[in-house]
Amino acid sequence: MKNYLVTGGAGFIGSNFIHYMFRKYGDDINIINVDALTYAGNLENLKEIENRSNYSFVKADIRDKEAIDRIFKDNDIDVVVHFAAESHVDRSIKNPEVFVETNVIGTAVMLNSAKAAWELPDGTYKEGKVFLHVSTDEVYGSLSDPKDYFYETTPYDPHSPYSASKASADLLVKAYTDTYHFPAKITNCSNNYGPYQFPEKLIPLMINNALTGKKLPVYGDGKNIRDWLYVDDHCKGIDMVIESGRIGEKYNIGGHNERENIHIVKTIIKTLKEILPPDDPRSANVSEDLITYVEDRKGHDRRYAIAPDKIHNELGWLPDTSFEDGIKLTIRWYLEHEDWMKNVTSGDYQEYYKRMYNE
Ligand code: NAD
Ligand code: DAU
Repeated sequence: MKNYLVTGGAGFIGSNFIHYMFRKYGDDINIINVDALTYAGNLENLKEIENRSNYSFVKADIRDKEAIDRIFKDNDIDVVVHFAAESHVDRSIKNPEVFVETNVIGTAVMLNSAKAAWELPDGTYKEGKVFLHVSTDEVYGSLSDPKDYFYETTPYDPHSPYSASKASADLLVKAYTDTYHFPAKITNCSNNYGPYQFPEKLIPLMINNALTGKKLPVYGDGKNIRDWLYVDDHCKGIDMVIESGRIGEKYNIGGHNERENIHIVKTIIKTLKEILPPDDPRSANVSEDLITYVEDRKGHDRRYAIAPDKIHNELGWLPDTSFEDGIKLTIRWYLEHEDWMKNVTSGDYQEYYKRMYNE
């Protein structure tokens, strides 16, 4: 039975990944979820699986070497799936230090602990061990020519403290494979959307604001382009890379779903209007009049677009969910989980929102 150590499993993609893996492998795997439960970590995301005998949760910080070493000592880990990170660009612009600490130092701790646990006296590694580092397309910077795409060979050119910290972590992982032949692989994925995404990110923020009649703050001219992927398709790609990707390689993941931000916002409004029953009191709030253009994000990357040729050609990965279906699934999920949204937007979130949007 394969034993997975998932870091950041209480966050958006990590929790979707854990659900995905139990749906796919059932009782044939074991998952240990290690998460510090920052503002972005939420055990409510895992309520349906928390009592499984092949799942356990450890509250620990990936910067805490002793705690991470102990987990490797107490468990024979086969696969590390490293999601844990500070993930929001706007927060990185306001407070970069924690991004360096968690995303760079935390990744170094994870690499060192896994290496110490897996390395044999002759410098090779126990069989079948894999360290999958989950990264982002933002490390490649911003595309200006509409015919260009991010390939695995595209030079790194990060602009925000977030993407710079992720780029640093990627390079550390690469250095471990180059120097120590450490069994790592990297995935660089485009923007994810789906259930359990914290409403500081574009799609859940716009859904929540539209339903509650709050302004929809569009940065700059609204024409920045992101390449959207339904979260389950990302999880499928990660699983395929763990199973069949080559050690020391990186794989871009994206589904050719490039959209301008303003298009996303208008699609959310249109879809909410279609889905909400007319007698639902929330439907009265939903209107394009809520769209408000606000000051642009500092250093705002213009366009991201992934070329997923490598993962497609080598591993046969293709996304299953079109944007049109994915956005409906996502909106329905948020409509059915009003309590989840209320819980995550109480307390600290209000302070964050005021600081971010009212100043
Ligand atoms: P998230 O912010 O929703 O979740 C991050 C999780 O990491 C949270 O559960 C948080 O508690 C945990 N965490 C943070 N600091 C920690 C620490 N020091 N120790 C232990 N746990 C800690 O992020 P997400 O959107 O799910 O992203 C997960 C990973 O995927 C990140 O590495 C991110 O860079 C990458 N990624 C995200 C996207 C996207 O669109 N969201 C796209 C590509 C790659
Ligand atoms: O590309 C992958 C990355 O996608 C991940 O690595 C990051 O962890 C993830 O947060 C995401 O980064 P973005 O900055 O692209 O996502 P965000 O949802 O913050 O913003 C998407 C776009 O929408 C971006 O161009 C900024 C814009 N935006 C965002 C917010 C929150 C707005 O116009 N208004 C907003 O209020």
